[in-house]
Amino acid sequence: MTIFKGRPVSLLGSGIYVPEKVLTNYDLEKMVDTSDEWIRTRTGIVERRVAAEDQVTSDLAYLAAVEALKSASMSPEEIDMVIVATNTPDTIFPSVAAKVQGRLEAINAGASDIQSGCTSSVYALSFAAAGIASSIWDKVLVIGAEVLTKLLNWEDRATCVLFGDGAGAMVLGVSPDGKNKVISTSLKSDGTKSDLIILPGGLVECPASVEMIQKRLHTIHMKGSEVFKFVNKVLPLFLEQFCEESNLSLNDITWWIFHQANYRIIESVLRRLDVPVERAILNIDKYGNTSAASVFLAFHEALVDGKVKKGDKVIFVSFGSGMTYGATLMEI
Ligand code: UT7
Repeated sequence: MTIFKGRPVSLLGSGIYVPEKVLTNYDLEKMVDTSDEWIRTRTGIVERRVAAEDQVTSDLAYLAAVEALKSASMSPEEIDMVIVATNTPDTIFPSVAAKVQGRLEAINAGASDIQSGCTSSVYALSFAAAGIASSIWDKVLVIGAEVLTKLLNWEDRATCVLFGDGAGAMVLGVSPDGKNKVISTSLKSDGTKSDLIILPGGLVECPASVEMIQKRLHTIHMKGSEVFKFVNKVLPLFLEQFCEESNLSLNDITWWIFHQANYRIIESVLRRLDVPVERAILNIDKYGNTSAASVFLAFHEALVDGKVKKGDKVIFVSFGSGMTYGATLMEI
């Protein structure tokens, strides 16, 4: 089933945080054999943010959460659950969510991380909405936060030019008027492609060792062009079916908020759907691929810029390691 039943769930507030340090394509030209022209034309990325040496994912997540709570005019005690979508947790345990919940003094909230590749964002939004619709929780803080730059091999031009750091948060709760609400969601996975985006070292399968570090297995590895092909093949049909199951035509959607992995992916998926690219919110040029944070960053900036308005139908679409993919449709 795709359409939400139960209590209507609304967006009550949102916020973001990005680190101050900017790393441009020109900076990268001095670090690896690449060029601004290659990065710009192949991905749409111009610059990305890099966390400070002493900043970890929970720091970014906390700062985005404070902004989201402020915009929802809500105090931390009102939150029932903190969910953090991340692939770069400070540690495997405790969770980032528990640290954020503690720091916020959200004394009535539970806390858990979701780790489903870049699609963690859409998974987290869906779980939060499902929990509220079914009356388990009233108010949920959903955060997407990543510090990817500390897990990159800065000698591998195929990955180090792509990723950046950032965090975005949303507060979801019961819709006051029942109108502006989360409409539908669909979460998918093709685990036969689990080798396409990996961080293989440092845990159970490949424990920490000198050899593991020498082979750089503690950093992100990606078969980029295979990911590119997979997404282009799977997403158009998936999105067509999702809109149909949501009882909406593709043209009913006001804004398309894709995971900002590559401008060319967004453009070609929309072309296959016959939707003008002007309907997409894009900020990959400023932040690169921020994985589970990307749709939150894109949405919040578009809201603040006045592009996304109350009543707009917005679709969040993501894809990533797993290979997972999914979409959530919301009337703002
Ligand atoms: O967030 C999770 C989901 N991830 C994604 O969606 C990523 C999906 N994949 C992509 O976005 C693209 O595949 C990439 C941007 C990663 C790569 O673009 P591509 O057009 O698929 O390039 P490619 O991997 O086929 O490489 C083309 C050429 C190769 O050289 P040769 O073999 O043609 O001589 C690469 O070695 O580009 C070379 N190359 C680079 N050149 C300059 C690869 N990385 C770089 C680089 N600078 N940074």
